[in-house]
Formats: sequence, C-alpha cells, structure tokens
Amino acid sequence: MRITVVGTGYVGLVTGTCLAEIGNEVICVDVNEEKINKLRNGIPPIYEEHLEEMINNNLAKNRLKFTTSLERGVKLSDVIFIAVGTPPKSNGQIDMSQVDEVAKSIGKYINGYKVIVNKSTVPVGSANRVKNIVYLNMKDKSIEFDVVSNPEFLREGTAVFDTFNGDRIVIGSNSEKATEIMKEIYESFNIPMLITNPESAEMIKYASNAFLATKISFINEIANVCERVGADVKEVAKGMGIDKRIGNKFLNAGIGFGGACFPKDIKGLMQIGNDAGYEFKIVKKVLEVNNAQRIKPVEMLRRLFGNLNGVNVSILGLSFKPGTDDLREAPSLYVIKELQSDGANIKAYDPIAMENAKLVIGNSMTYCNDPYEAVEGSDVVVLLTEWAEFKKLDFNRVKELVNRPLIIDGRNTLDSNSLKEKGFEYFGIGLGDASVENTGPKESRIIRINQKKACVL
Ligand code: UDX
Repeated sequence: MRITVVGTGYVGLVTGTCLAEIGNEVICVDVNEEKINKLRNGIPPIYEEHLEEMINNNLAKNRLKFTTSLERGVKLSDVIFIAVGTPPKSNGQIDMSQVDEVAKSIGKYINGYKVIVNKSTVPVGSANRVKNIVYLNMKDKSIEFDVVSNPEFLREGTAVFDTFNGDRIVIGSNSEKATEIMKEIYESFNIPMLITNPESAEMIKYASNAFLATKISFINEIANVCERVGADVKEVAKGMGIDKRIGNKFLNAGIGFGGACFPKDIKGLMQIGNDAGYEFKIVKKVLEVNNAQRIKPVEMLRRLFGNLNGVNVSILGLSFKPGTDDLREAPSLYVIKELQSDGANIKAYDPIAMENAKLVIGNSMTYCNDPYEAVEGSDVVVLLTEWAEFKKLDFNRVKELVNRPLIIDGRNTLDSNSLKEKGFEYFGIGLGDASVENTGPKESRIIRINQKKACVL
C-alpha cells in the first residue's frame, strides 16, 4: 500500500514508521525542513523506544521517505493519514487550523481516489469537516475520496509497542470501499478491529481518555480519604482491581496525571459537550481533583515545615511519567512553581528530562547530574516521577548526604518499610498509617489493613 502521513510529531512519526515496518511504502510529510532533514538522516526529534532503529531500518529498505512536499505526498499515495497537531485554544476550543490546511492542500492536489484518515485527536464531526474542505478545494469535482476516523491510543514511551499490541483498532467509516482498505492496512497487526461511524470513532477517543483520567482522579480521592481513616490505598486498589468489572489498571494513586493528552482531551470533551448544549459534570470534577492532587506534596510540606522559606527541597523526577522526557502538564511544573512562591531552594534531577526542563523551567532552580548530587544537603526529598532508577538508589548513602532523612513519595513507588528501617521519615499518598494528612479522629488512626490476608489472591 502507498501511504502518506502528514505531520511527523509523536503520533505521525510512530504511525508512519510502523506502517513502513510492515511493508508499506510510506511518505512522511512535515512543513519543518530541519526536522525532515534530520529524519532523512535517521534522527528522530523525539525519544521513543525502538523508533530510531526502525526509522533507519526502513530508510535503508527505501520504504520510508521524508519530504516537505505535501503535493508529492498526496499525488503518490492511495491513503493519506492526517496526524498534525490539534492544540487547545485559550478558550478551551480545539485548534483545527493545521488539519484544515492539510485538508485544503489534499483538495488542491488530489489526483484520484484516496482514503483520507483523521489520526489526530479531533472533535466529533471532523471527518465531515475535512470532507467538506477537501471537496471545496478540488478542481475536478468528479474525483472520489473518503474520509475515515482512526484514532490512536498510543502511550508515550511505549508508542511503538502499543501500535503493534493495542487492545483495539477503531475505524470510523461510512464507506465500504474505505473500510476494506483500512482493514487491509491493519490486517497483519492481529488486533481486534471495531468498525463504526466516524462520529462514534471520534467520541471513542475522547471518552476513553476521559475515563482513564477519571479512574486516576477517583483513586486519588480514595487515597485522600484513606490517609484520614487509616486505610492503605495500594491495598484498596488491589482489592478493587481484582473485580474484572473494575480492572486493575490506572488505579495507582499519586500526584495525578499530566502529559499532552489527558488534560487536553478532557477539556476537548467538555467543549464538545458545550457545543452540543450539554454540560459534562463528572470530567469537570476530574480535572479539579487533578489540579489539587498535583500540588499535594507542597501541601504536605507546608504542614510539616510550617514555612517553606529557605527549606532545601530535592526533587527526583520531572517528566510527567517515566520513559519520556516530556514535561507537558507534568505535575512537577506545578510543584516547583508552588515551592518557589514559598521561597524554597530547589535542586532537581531527572534521568532524561533535564534538557527539556532547562528550556521550560529556566535557571530558577539547580539542575543536578545525578540523584545523589540532588539530595545533598536536603531537608526533604520529593519523588515526583516513578523512574525505576530511584527504586534502586543506595538509601544508606542518601541518608548520609541529606540534612534530614525525610521523603515524600508522590508516586508510592519506594519501599516504605525498608526506608523506615533505615531511619527515614516516609510519607506516601494515601498510605493510611504514615500520612501527614492523618487528621481524622484518634480511634480511626489506629485502624490497619490486615497485611496477613485471609487468602492469597
Ligand atoms: C495517554 C493514553 O493512555 C493513551 O491511550 C492516549 O493515546 C494518550 O494519552 P500518555 O499520556 O502517554 O497516554 O500516558 P499514560 O501512561 O496514559 O499516563 C498518563 C498520566 O496518568 C501520567 O501522568 C501518569 O503518571 C498518570 N497515571 C497513570 C496515574 O497517575 N495513575 C495511574 O494509575 C496511571
């Protein structure tokens, strides 16, 4: 199949490269010349596991090409994926200008039947919108084309793996011909396909992300109550997750969600509701809970120290989750802002997000070369991203280096018992018996989860 992917951001580049990997001839188009030149030399602009080797493999086999010419991309392919950015506007609406521009150009250059695929996360009704724009810009109105919606469900950091191992492929199409072509493209993936109309496909994307975010805010609220009543949210999540109707994923309590998708897609979904005359109530609260949750470590520190002016805070982890250098909507940004407004001194370390952090946060805090440098002289260590390397730290060495052996674990990822044995004061999120949030009635504070469970599940 001859395929063009417009937009070499995280979605477009991963999609294009993976489609080349399974034997298609893929042209990736982007307006950014510098990016295209680097990609021609096998250098991706983002970090994703396996992506670089896969790009180079397919460049060598001549199945993957990079160009700034959308005209070439349109004319030489049968299927055109639109994977350009759809950022939020300041009024909460989704900025569709890049999608519109691509649709205009497709109309201008179309030279035969094409399947146009909306891969970007776009509002419900966008397949129709693209269809109209393409048609309006066509010189020869007799040329046929179809527009389908094919949302992505890739997670940053595991996007290549997710492409080949996703739970479902959603194809929103009103045309049998286009549906057959899409099925052919994805046949070898061996992933269940759901064929639906474009509007439902577009909604599935928003509803899925909003639901996952809801699970996170829900468990975070449970955590906030757990620590007041002596329950342990990790045990509670385990107990809930065993119920197949609930499922055990996305029930890790902590300092909330960040990233390019969840916050943006929730706002997008609220806007879709608004535009349709409906006010979403649940997801609005999901965002509110998350906004409060992400600065929870600061609230805990305010209670512990009273005044944070001059307190030395060491931050471990800056990216919004492990496996990526992405800082978009990362809780760390909000924590740092609050700490700085309280006058705390901040030293920070992240395994791969340091360069990005310098660009985003600037020189208002100290960037360290390793975690031990970051914790030296600290009054409190605050863990914000659950990178595996933080679990493996030599905490005896950490204890030697800090002023006060105090750890706030914003991701409940460290071994609390072992840390307490080593003499650390340890506070997680919602862990019942050890929380500074523990302001409930005295009797309830001594309730403990029975660790010796009646049966092993
Ligand atoms: C998400 C969706 O998972 C993916 O399907 C969609 O295409 C894009 O958005 P991503 O943003 O890459 O992917 O990250 P994800 O792994 O979903 O995590 C999102 C955020 O939720 C992270 O900040 C993570 O730390 C947080 N999270 C996740 C929790 O706080 N608790 C959990 O249990 C799970």
